[in-house]
Amino acid sequence: MNEPATITRSCRGSVLDNGPVSRGLLRLDLRLEVPVNFLPGQFAMLNRSGGRAFVFGRPFSILAVDGDTVSFLYRVVGRGTAVLAELEPGDELTFLGPLGRPFPGPDVVRPALLVGGGVGLPPVAAWLARWGRDGDVACFGGRDGHDVPWDLLGSDWAVSVDETEGVPADHTAWHGLVTELAADRLAHAEGPGTVLACGPVPLLRAAADLAAREDWDCWLSLEEHMGCGYGVCKGCVVPVRDPAVSPWRNATCCSEGPVFPAADIVWEVYGAQASLAVTEPERPPKEKP
Ligand SMILES: Cc1cc2nc3c(=O)[nH]c(=O)nc-3n(C[C@H](O)[C@H](O)[C@H](O)COP(=O)(O)OP(=O)(O)OC[C@H]3O[C@@H](n4cnc5c(N)ncnc54)[C@H](O)[C@@H]3O)c2cc1C
Ligand code: FES
Repeated sequence: MNEPATITRSCRGSVLDNGPVSRGLLRLDLRLEVPVNFLPGQFAMLNRSGGRAFVFGRPFSILAVDGDTVSFLYRVVGRGTAVLAELEPGDELTFLGPLGRPFPGPDVVRPALLVGGGVGLPPVAAWLARWGRDGDVACFGGRDGHDVPWDLLGSDWAVSVDETEGVPADHTAWHGLVTELAADRLAHAEGPGTVLACGPVPLLRAAADLAAREDWDCWLSLEEHMGCGYGVCKGCVVPVRDPAVSPWRNATCCSEGPVFPAADIVWEVYGAQASLAVTEPERPPKEKP
């Protein structure tokens, strides 16, 4: 399949819209100085512009691109995402992207079972929007009905919730883990095919186990802590099997991933290791002239 080449851009973006799509999940639409293209699974580093920039931008999977407009979904977990949540239309950010290796395209994925948990939704939603076909199945998991971006998901997604509270009367949701929902859907799918997943590590591990059990391929998008975002700082390593290196080696998640074949990940190490967070030094506030 011929896809237009994706070229990494570093440019400014002006906020078009920024607001909640569910409890705790926000959508940010940015108009960039130049049009961009991306492949599902790729991400961008976002940062404040000018003198208030963080030392490191923050990585976010790209949800959608329309010409010069790029969209993200995010959850506030710390300082960088708190800054994002305060942005108003017209405010500026810097954008570096698209970065990283995407999910495989539909020519090697037949059929697809997509699994997204929480803020793991954007890369799999981007895949479904770009390449989804009849026979593909998409499963999204939230903690409860308030967590689920119902309007954004539309009718294409099966939804699971840990608690049924907040599920609207005109929607249905599987009560349980999203990987249990995915296992149910996989049992009824025409396979073997490919599982594509993004979310917290336990979800990734369960998706990988499910795929291995059923003899499906599996690709995972890992949301590792990142510094530079393009392979220099080595702050984002993931232990992977590599025939050339025994027993395993550290791959840089930003440039060799964030999408990896599940079979390459050394779970005993990856699941157990404290993530190598890149600690950012505090900058003194700038003196106002
Ligand atoms: C390739 C990639 C794609 C991502 N896509 C999205 C996305 O689409 N939407 C979204 O909301 N988030 C996404 N993330 C995670 C996002 O980058 C972090 O939540 C963000 O950097 C946190 O910045 P902060 O300054 O608010 O938090 P910090 O102050 O840096 O950290 C606050 C807390 O969050 C934890 N944390 C920070 N980064 C991560 C991480 N990567 N994974 C798990 N915990 C983390 C820290 O350990 C700490 O406990 C993605 C990460 C990667 C690597
Ligand atoms: S974030 Fe710097 S090498 Fe990956």
